[in-house]
Amino acid sequence: MVTATLSDIRKCDFLVIGTGISGLLFSLKASKHGRVHLLTKAALADSATSKAQGGIAAVISEEDSLDSHIEDTIRVGAGLCHRDVAENIIRQGPAIVKELVEFGVAFCEDDKCDKFDLGMEGGHSHRRVLHVKDHTGADIENALIAKVQKESNIEIFEHHMAVNLFTQNARVMGAYVLDLNTGEIDRFISKITVLATGGAGRVFLYTSNPDISTGDGIAMAYRAGASITNLEFIQFHPTILFHPKIRSFLISEALRGEGAVLLGPDGERFMDKYHKDAELAPRDIVARAIDNELKQTGADNVFLDISSKDADFVRDRFPAIYETCLRAGIDITKEPIPVVPAVHYVCGGVKADINGRTDVAGLYAIGETSGTGFHGGNRLASNSLLEGAVLAHNASIDVAEAIKQPIEVVEMPPWDPGEATDPDEHVVISHLWDEVRRLMVNYVGIVRTNKRLIRARNRIGFIAKEIEQFYWDFVITPDLVELRNIATVAELIIKMARMRKESRGAHFNRDYPDRLETPVDTVIKKGLLPINDN
Ligand code: SIN
Repeated sequence: MVTATLSDIRKCDFLVIGTGISGLLFSLKASKHGRVHLLTKAALADSATSKAQGGIAAVISEEDSLDSHIEDTIRVGAGLCHRDVAENIIRQGPAIVKELVEFGVAFCEDDKCDKFDLGMEGGHSHRRVLHVKDHTGADIENALIAKVQKESNIEIFEHHMAVNLFTQNARVMGAYVLDLNTGEIDRFISKITVLATGGAGRVFLYTSNPDISTGDGIAMAYRAGASITNLEFIQFHPTILFHPKIRSFLISEALRGEGAVLLGPDGERFMDKYHKDAELAPRDIVARAIDNELKQTGADNVFLDISSKDADFVRDRFPAIYETCLRAGIDITKEPIPVVPAVHYVCGGVKADINGRTDVAGLYAIGETSGTGFHGGNRLASNSLLEGAVLAHNASIDVAEAIKQPIEVVEMPPWDPGEATDPDEHVVISHLWDEVRRLMVNYVGIVRTNKRLIRARNRIGFIAKEIEQFYWDFVITPDLVELRNIATVAELIIKMARMRKESRGAHFNRDYPDRLETPVDTVIKKGLLPINDN
């Protein structure tokens, strides 16, 4: 077990927290301008990027156009996308893909689409998803790691968990970091701190996300005074494998893009009752349709069926999904796959501009941690790796300018453990973890109501107070740090869901089923109470 004592001070220009596509790519690019300290609380490749199957959306085919990708993003985003942000990111898509190819990502090729084999996913009006079979994220992650490891200006700290940002004179100047190898709290001082910690799927009991997705960046930024935006838009992926032994395994939307159909417990298709694009409708619609079918029939799961396609094609195009399902006793070339929706992506996050700048000096947020307005109320499939890569690029240009300004290097006081003692009952922490995650899945799920949200708000209030007390009374452990973060993010999601008096995109409240005419972003900042949270 790791508990904290005190230790070293480390100084750099750029402190980067998180090693998915945005953290790695930013580190590579920023290392041309200054010294980078790159932290991850796990091993280098443990990230949501590594788990991404579908791919990265970009306009490559001559039959496609940037305008079409922009319009698809905005339509699926349910009226809340920031058009300028969508244009900036999508217009840089082809160049960023070229760069990834130069870094060694071998996107699958074919003769038809100008070299690349382009996949189809829900909400897209053209084939535009570049992929490496069904393990795109892992290949991107590995290619970037290979580059980062060769870069002498980047120092990598695995198993280092950021606990709190360090702020002085209203500027973030680094972070207190728990070294999981030694149990010591190290001080990392930096001119610029970049949060690239990914999403927060672990705030909910059922998710496609890896164990590390505990909303750390969002919670730390909130505590440091940054604005948080649009967290109520929690995107559910419609098709996560339903199996007692295999947790959190995604069945890529790309299967539906290649013709897989959704079947109810009676073996009949149902999606055409819900949307003209049936299985390729935007993700919020497919997830809600499945939820409705499950509630109406009382079944535990629905099915995704690709068995009508040629078996060799299926095995070749989806090798990882084929193998994993086979291990679970399901031959996807012959039989349907049991699936359920589960939490997949946070469309909002730490409010950031197109360069990743937050409203706290010295602090940047990029990738899923950020809320740039790109995804609006519902993310278009395979737009997240694109956003992560482009924001990393934009931020690296912005910080090159920012560090030219004189920044006073500060004295960082040692971490103050106060009167904290070792907790005598660790089981309390795991009970609280479970309580938060069950509460979120039961009351803040795909379909919300005012009553459920009030119940959630009241309960999370008590739990959060208990966790705060635990946090200051006992020596911190990794589980306690993450518990505090998931509770903070849960509280923010509930508050923002309460603030939105309409249904839009991934946020559906049965008591406000319609969209308001003029959509607004929700924003919460520490110390400022949200409006109408009564
Ligand atoms: C998938 O492969 O279905 C996930 C793609 C995404 O979430 O963008």
